[in-house]
Amino acid sequence: MTETATDAVGVRHEAESTTLTPGDHHEDAPVLVVDLGGQYAQLIARRVRECGVYSELVSSAITPGEVSARNARAIVLSGGPASVYADDAPRVDPDLFELGVPVLGICYGMQLMAQELGGAVDRTDAAEFGRADLSVVPDGSQLFRDQPNEQTCWMSHRDSVVAAPAGARVVASSPATPIAAFEDVDAHRYGVQFHPEVVHTPYGMDVLRHFLHDVVGAPAEWTAAAVVEEEVERIRAHVGDAKVLCALSGGVDSAVAALLVHKAVGEQLTCVFVDHGFLRADEAVNVVGTFDEHFQVPLVHVDASDRFLARVAGVVDPEEKRRNIGEEFIRVFEEEARRLGDIRYLVQGTLYSDVIESGGHAGVAAKIKSHHNVGGLPDDMDLELVEPLRLLFKDEVRRVGAELGLAENMVWRHPFPGPGLAIRIIGEVTVERLDALRAADAILLDEIRKAGLYRELWQCFAVLPAVRSVGVQGDERTYAYPIVIRAVTSEDAMTADWAYLPHEVLQVISTRIINEVPQVNRVALDISSKPPATIEWE
Ligand code: XMP
Repeated sequence: MTETATDAVGVRHEAESTTLTPGDHHEDAPVLVVDLGGQYAQLIARRVRECGVYSELVSSAITPGEVSARNARAIVLSGGPASVYADDAPRVDPDLFELGVPVLGICYGMQLMAQELGGAVDRTDAAEFGRADLSVVPDGSQLFRDQPNEQTCWMSHRDSVVAAPAGARVVASSPATPIAAFEDVDAHRYGVQFHPEVVHTPYGMDVLRHFLHDVVGAPAEWTAAAVVEEEVERIRAHVGDAKVLCALSGGVDSAVAALLVHKAVGEQLTCVFVDHGFLRADEAVNVVGTFDEHFQVPLVHVDASDRFLARVAGVVDPEEKRRNIGEEFIRVFEEEARRLGDIRYLVQGTLYSDVIESGGHAGVAAKIKSHHNVGGLPDDMDLELVEPLRLLFKDEVRRVGAELGLAENMVWRHPFPGPGLAIRIIGEVTVERLDALRAADAILLDEIRKAGLYRELWQCFAVLPAVRSVGVQGDERTYAYPIVIRAVTSEDAMTADWAYLPHEVLQVISTRIINEVPQVNRVALDISSKPPATIEWE
């Protein structure tokens, strides 16, 4: 078994790697997280994996037969906004509870269990939203073993369980919710009203660990090292001795996908890095240095900046800009693929969250993906896809990257859109404006890194608007561009908050940008969240 420890920034370190025999994959015995419409369903699946146990998100329509066929280790029922008494409330097949597979119900999931298993749920006066005190029954609880009897937790509910299911014992309560957790050890049924998956429940991960390791008996084996081993084996079996192509963008997903494939099939892989000239400072040098020099992955670096600049000359409409860049990208990529010839597979950095969103499971939680995938590849290319990250969440991709030896600055790189700086320049993209934005962006990121804030932010970048304003510098009037600082925190880019950057850091950034970038005389801060704004400006 692999021992894991998590450091302050959430990176898991494995003391020892797991040995797998061929064909022995973690997804052959998953923990199934049933999505009952809660906003935290994906987060629960991630948290289970953080405990070292492979999990997947599934729809509430899953049948007992499917659960058995998947050889599921456990079922976790997520929260959800509905009331169990509502006609359209999501339900599960009650026979799921009779399979002998351990079940943990969280929030709405707990209420559904209570209702199905002979307990009762009611709308009491006990609505609780936010932090709540939790009193644990001192003796013998499985979920709360070795934890303080008095602790806090995060609640979000209007209805409450007012009678636990037959055979279940109440093991925790809050002032407003007498039945805040129940356990039926013999029937392997557990329920918690609070949210163990959110950071505001300090012992939440302990509750999940006790359920997974002690109740379910699932060892902590899903680690970056195990993922690498499984994926490499799978890619080898899939690809055989065929040739494989991968488009590198400089982002972490395509980098990790490429390294996995390279580890599996070596020089059968060729990477193509289309440099459209809209990259950040030093990006091309970094990518070439990492892949060509460090990992010795066969790499074709195409400097196509003149072609791309020509395609955006005079274009001010954001959609037209995106379209032109997207089309040109495909053209350049196809030319290179033709030149290489005889390629059978194409590597794509599709993540598990993309699989879920594109209907990999029919979720109840409504999601709108506003993201225009420029930098995407032609869908009419006659190539079969290899998607080595299909099972992984973004944070797992980073861990796998670190496991493969990818440098920290690549592993923790903020997401960068396919069209690059071109969609952060409002209005016309020119060499002069690109230079100004690139210089300002480099200063911004330099100061954010120096302040130790880089990893706390989902994205941080500079935007160059299409207005100019009057200033005065060294007794001279200036008429120059402003730079807008965009810094956001986010879990998944679907929603985002503007980040509270310390004033001292903002002050240094502003002074440096105005002093060091001649085309700029003003710095502004974007304080809009998403929605209603988006993260990018175009
Ligand atoms: P928005 O601006 O829609 O962006 O809030 C959400 C996330 O998607 C990234 N983004 C892109 N990524 N190709 C990409 O690969 C694109 O065309 C693209 N446009 C936006 C954006 O940086 C943010 O992380």
